[in-house]
Amino acid sequence: MRPRRERRSAPARLAAVALVLTAAAFGVRSAEDGLDTELMQTIEDTNKSLASSIALQQSKQATADAKELTEMFAQVEGYYSRKGDAADAVDLARKSRELSTKILGHIDAKDYGAATNTATDLSRTCKTCHNFYKKS
Ligand code: HEC
Repeated sequence: MRPRRERRSAPARLAAVALVLTAAAFGVRSAEDGLDTELMQTIEDTNKSLASSIALQQSKQATADAKELTEMFAQVEGYYSRKGDAADAVDLARKSRELSTKILGHIDAKDYGAATNTATDLSRTCKTCHNFYKKS
């Protein structure tokens, strides 16, 4: 049998918190998952869908995607504020949520140029957070 890891590391604590959160939201998952990767995958897919919906000026789909992103980033924000000791991640999640809300306004105003620019800012925010908080 593999010896139990005794590390009281940040990733271990993060995984423990994530387990509770993901168990509540998506059913029980592995404690090794850290921040729920299923949520991040959905964010990835939605962000891609948003970019193409904006490019194709499909306001209905773009609105649905941006709205979904605001909700998912609220979850990410909640996750990091509960976890504690991750003020930058809380800020970046909040910023992502605010950018998604801003995109909603641009789509509503049929300003697809501004929506594209703000979507670019949003994608930059993903990368900033990954640089600091994503281990692989
Ligand atoms: C507040 C921080 C934060 C923001 C903002 C953020 N991410 Fe992430 N993301 C993470 C972390 C942390 C991981 C690593 C999770 C893990 O592997 O435990 C991750 C992982 C991922 C993954 C890999 C998931 C997998 O299956 O391993 C994808 C894809 C991803 N993010 C896409 C995005 C996209 C697209 C955005 C922006 C629209 C975004 N993320 C915004 C923190 C963030």
